[in-house]
Amino acid sequence: MKLVRAKDYLDMSRKAANIITAQIIMKPDSVLGLATGSSPVGIYKELQERYEKGDLDFSKIKTVNLDEYRGLSGDHPQSYRYFMNQHLFNVVNIAIENTYVPNGLAEDPEKGSAEYIKIINSLGGVDLQLLGIGNNGHIGFNEPGTPFGLEVHCVNLTDDTIEANKRFFDKKEDVPKQAYTMGIKTIMHAKKILLVASGESKADAIAKAITGPITPDLPASILQLHNDVTIIGDEAAFSKLPL
Ligand code: F6R
Repeated sequence: MKLVRAKDYLDMSRKAANIITAQIIMKPDSVLGLATGSSPVGIYKELQERYEKGDLDFSKIKTVNLDEYRGLSGDHPQSYRYFMNQHLFNVVNIAIENTYVPNGLAEDPEKGSAEYIKIINSLGGVDLQLLGIGNNGHIGFNEPGTPFGLEVHCVNLTDDTIEANKRFFDKKEDVPKQAYTMGIKTIMHAKKILLVASGESKADAIAKAITGPITPDLPASILQLHNDVTIIGDEAAFSKLPL
């Protein structure tokens, strides 16, 4: 596991964008696993700027997102498809048909999950997976207690996560109660993993993920077993790590 200390959110975003830029330059037809939320917004902005300067070409890139709320269509402003279109896909030269997000409107959760597994496999797997981390140590929507062996599946969101995500909705009751997510097994199959964390609210989860026991109670702790993980954290997020 490689730990990279960043000064602040902007520095974290630039350092993470450097790794993604290198990936795209070295392998222009990479499959990128992408995340939503506050953590990657600055990274996507950096990538957009580099594209606008002519330094990055997304024309052969394919993407698969980690997760999507169950019940939201891609047109819903809080859906992860909408977020990705807004923050990345609509502002770089990626072909929208090469971008994949789980179908939040799939009627049958089992079938919806199986279809997404098929898509990931048909792309030949993920070259570089970008992750954020929840205050409770979740990655994707794999909440504490989720067995490590799952692939894409539908989950009930915990109250912690609904509470943390209600900031994006008018009221807490509007936050969907379920989501599709890549499971830990799917995430661990990525060739490289890049996790970013910013802010004090992530400090506990980061310290436990890196130095604590490997346990489903702290889903990100599984990353200790992956052979190519980089974690970029700002000072606040790394503040509870031993020096
Ligand atoms: C998002 C995702 C989540 C977030 C995590 C952190 O696609 O899978 O695991 O990465 O909840 O969210 P932020 O970045 O908003 O703090």
